[in-house]
Amino acid sequence: MMTAPLKQGEQILVEVALGERAYDIVIGRDVLQSLGARIAALRPGARTAIVTDRTVAKYWLEKTESSLAQAGIPAARIVVEQGEGSKTYAGLQQVSEALIAARIERNDLVIALGGGVVGDLAGFAAAILRRGVDFVQVPTSLLAQVDSSVGGKTGINSPQGKNLLGAFHQPVLVIADTAVLDTLSPRQFRAGYAEVAKYGALGDEAFFAWLEANHADVFRGGTAREHAIATSCRAKAAIVARDERETGDRALLNLGHTFGHALEAATGFSDRLFHGEGVAVGMVLAAQFSAQIGMIAPSAAARLEHHLAEVGLPTHLQDIAGFAQEGLGDADSLMTLMAQDKKVTRGRLTFILLEAIGRAVIARDVEPSLVRDFVQARLASRF
Ligand SMILES: NC(=O)c1ccc[n+]([C@@H]2O[C@H](COP(=O)([O-])OP(=O)(O)OC[C@H]3O[C@@H](n4cnc5c(N)ncnc54)[C@H](O)[C@@H]3O)[C@@H](O)[C@H]2O)c1
Ligand SMILES: [Zn+2]
Repeated sequence: MMTAPLKQGEQILVEVALGERAYDIVIGRDVLQSLGARIAALRPGARTAIVTDRTVAKYWLEKTESSLAQAGIPAARIVVEQGEGSKTYAGLQQVSEALIAARIERNDLVIALGGGVVGDLAGFAAAILRRGVDFVQVPTSLLAQVDSSVGGKTGINSPQGKNLLGAFHQPVLVIADTAVLDTLSPRQFRAGYAEVAKYGALGDEAFFAWLEANHADVFRGGTAREHAIATSCRAKAAIVARDERETGDRALLNLGHTFGHALEAATGFSDRLFHGEGVAVGMVLAAQFSAQIGMIAPSAAARLEHHLAEVGLPTHLQDIAGFAQEGLGDADSLMTLMAQDKKVTRGRLTFILLEAIGRAVIARDVEPSLVRDFVQARLASRF
């Protein structure tokens, strides 16, 4: 879906159509300023608690608090350590106890100010506090703005695996301020961009082509950034509205993720590979595998690879940090990691494959030996 580029300072509203759980995503430069007024209109008299992490607090907590203060809204602050380590029982305990201490009750609001970690953690704490308190997402990473803040999945990790504990809990409002992304590290921004490109690759060839032409402005923070984020949110919102609980089409959003998760696991969920980087490599692998079984033209797979590489994302297994020194394990160990992905249903491998740029399909029952041989060949070859 193409819309005219915006002038700086305008905002875009994306409605997530989920019946009585419908809500708006407000996207634009400096929309964070409007948070207090929007909450006052949405929930007059509510108290709030802002959950954030140490890094985001440094840059954006004051601005958030002042917007709430101007609207006369009381706001407690709850600051967790940054990083995945907070998405744990201990992090959940810290946030839950602090919410209770802040006397957040059924008609009050939890505000998640941060990346996907804070959104998942604060959203889950809100879901279970007093059997469910509403929450507002203020996503501050590109990944959170285009992915984790849309769709209502919340949760924490178990020592046995990522995101194993959680709840569907939709926010009542999402404020995606694109200026906030200016303090994000370039590598984090790039990793989030992989999810943006994913929406084009899986369902919107025109958007993919638009990204090929406009990615520099998206990275620079021009008006293309708002358009890219809004188009991504619309794409995810449309799929979530069709399939809120992931029984069907929502699986398409996992393009690149079965390979990607295995690579994240193989690198120990460390800084060697950010999630979005794993998704970038995973999408290229999914496209190449699709080409190998004759599903997509090799030139289309190459087009996807070229675009991800041109923005600086890794696209080959060999691009992953430490590949030469530490490797990624062999094809069999990667297959085992893929089989552990929670999207696997009773041992059968489900992959999201590509028929074209803009046309992804859910392939159930993919023959494991074909995938294994493909992975082995990719491990051995640079191109
Ligand atoms: N719920 C969902 O549907 C969903 C979807 C995708 C991912 N996720 C989850 O999201 C998490 C990853 O999210 P993420 O990549 O945003 O990670 P993150 O929340 O850890 O943020 C990445 C880093 O960037 C910092 N940061 C965030 N915003 C910043 C800003 N504006 N300026 C400076 N620094 C900033 C954070 O402090 C952190 O160090 C994972 O836990 C993943 O499981 C959830
Ligand atoms: Zn993802």
